[in-house]
Amino acid sequence: MRYFIGNWKMFGTQKSIKIANNINNFIKSDKNRNKYRVIITPPFTLLQYFSNYFKKKKIKIGSQNCYHKDLFSSDTGAISPFMLKEIGCEYSIVGHSDNRAEGDDDNKLKQKVNFCLKNNLKIIYCIGENKTHKNKKQTFKVLRRQINNILKEKINYKNFIIAYEPIWSIGTGSVPSSDQLIKITGFIKKILKKRFKRSKTPAVLYGGSVDDKSIINFKNLGDIDGFLIGGASKSPKKFIDIIKNYYN
Ligand code: PGA
Repeated sequence: MRYFIGNWKMFGTQKSIKIANNINNFIKSDKNRNKYRVIITPPFTLLQYFSNYFKKKKIKIGSQNCYHKDLFSSDTGAISPFMLKEIGCEYSIVGHSDNRAEGDDDNKLKQKVNFCLKNNLKIIYCIGENKTHKNKKQTFKVLRRQINNILKEKINYKNFIIAYEPIWSIGTGSVPSSDQLIKITGFIKKILKKRFKRSKTPAVLYGGSVDDKSIINFKNLGDIDGFLIGGASKSPKKFIDIIKNYYN
């Protein structure tokens, strides 16, 4: 099973449901539809609307972030996994580099993972090195820490997806070479295989400047179970072409 996840970030109004609906219509008619799953993570303001609309359709809905503990709290602006689950949200992104930069440290992320799982919310857990780590050859060290930190929780592999997103690639148009990606995803899978049973390891996705053109570089990399797509997921044509170009 492959994943194509559209992270809309701070984009969209109610009218933007058309974008997701176009993608849903494409999936319905696509001969490859049983080979992949599409998840859209719109902003919080659209979650309930999208969750209701896509309830019995092909597209699954996720949030871009969530609170790390407590069903309810006095933390202004926070939304808990419990509240997300109640409105039909199935997934949450956890640990996106935007949120790590705003203070999501290892401890908080471990709590988020734990609290999502308790509330039956599946996790898309983002990891990735920045440019300095890359230049100092610290990529493996950073990734190992980011993964091991949350593997302290008891996790069902089916509820957990890892998205490798090098920060230097997000929104920049630069992507890792195939060789780099093979090495890095192999490294991530090796860590996961130690912790999970061999045949039951979580999916590992790539994210960072994936679009209808760059997808060509990734199509034959068997260790990559899918893609987390930011900018290009706001255009139905580009998103659909990513899927088409991946399979054709
Ligand atoms: P991008 O974003 O595809 O625009 O690089 C990816 C992400 O931040 O998840």
